[in-house]
Amino acid sequence: MTTVTEILQPVELDLENLRNDLRDLIGAGHPILKAAAEHLFSAGGKRLRPGIVLLISRALSGQGELTPRHRRLAEITEMIHTASLVHDDVVDEAATRRGVETVHSRFNSRVAVLAGDFLFAQASWHLANLDNLDVVKLLSRVIMDLADGEVKQGLYRYDAGQTLENYLEKSYCKTASLMANSAQAAGVLSEQNPENLSALNYFGRQIGLAFQVVDDILDFTGSEKQLGKPAASDLASGYLTAPALFALEEHPSLAGLIEREFSEERDLEQALDLVLNSKAIKRARKLAENFARESIEAIEWLPDSPCRRALLDLPDFVLSRLY
Ligand code: IPE
Ligand code: IPE
Ligand code: MG
Ligand code: MG
Repeated sequence: MTTVTEILQPVELDLENLRNDLRDLIGAGHPILKAAAEHLFSAGGKRLRPGIVLLISRALSGQGELTPRHRRLAEITEMIHTASLVHDDVVDEAATRRGVETVHSRFNSRVAVLAGDFLFAQASWHLANLDNLDVVKLLSRVIMDLADGEVKQGLYRYDAGQTLENYLEKSYCKTASLMANSAQAAGVLSEQNPENLSALNYFGRQIGLAFQVVDDILDFTGSEKQLGKPAASDLASGYLTAPALFALEEHPSLAGLIEREFSEERDLEQALDLVLNSKAIKRARKLAENFARESIEAIEWLPDSPCRRALLDLPDFVLSRLY
């Protein structure tokens, strides 16, 4: 199986610099906020989002060097992502992330909420300092979408009547918006025409949706050790993702279990069985494959280079996490 490090190889050195720069960027602030913010950064993560920004930036620059603004955009993207994870883990009361304790478990929820805010604010500050209004608009929209997505997800908890469309809208807000808008922002910094900018946005959006569907399948099929975060937790928390929604179509009896919030003994076990013993995982995989294919088609126009080839391989990597 290809690993993320192999795919991101053309920007390996850039990502190495990013790791160090991010530490310096979380500058001023109370030591406790700094410690809390650094806690998750130092645990690593796949750095997929800054990887995408850097690959696009290099693919568009020909043989040219990356500008400091492109680099800063990649850093801001990872900062926003990390902030969203800190908050998401508070909302979900999750105990582990990136193989380590979550920020609220290591410190407490108050500190985690403030540390997430601190990271969002720092990201906004660095964003403003890029001095490009279009980029500011694209990335501040993401921060709005993230909050919107969390609220949407909360509203649909244990709602067996929600549609696949509701789920995809929520997934756009929580996951795909950051990939779509940061991909477009890389194009803006590289002075691309409007047609290319929407293609980059569409690429990020579709790969983001594929990524979320895959993550949601892995929640059913993966282990905590493999994922670095709790498994089998979406359904238990009442979050109905693609596999659960497909299973509902096949087994209407699942709705009853969900609506009584798995309150009776073995309800959850039964529900998990219904999802796993249906065509749901297979259908969800198909859905992710479609998004992945559409993301590839969106960027075929990029001039040939190692970075373009890495971008074209990325959707397959996202899907390969399933095997
Ligand atoms: C986690 O994203 C949040 C989802 C969109 C499912 P990643 O799986 O990219 O998290 P890290 O950055 O590698 O930890
Ligand atoms: C992913 O949400 C996107 C964000 C973190 C905002 P999930 O809730 O699906 O991510 P995990 O499963 O906690 O990583
Ligand atoms: Mg979560
Ligand atoms: Mg999840």
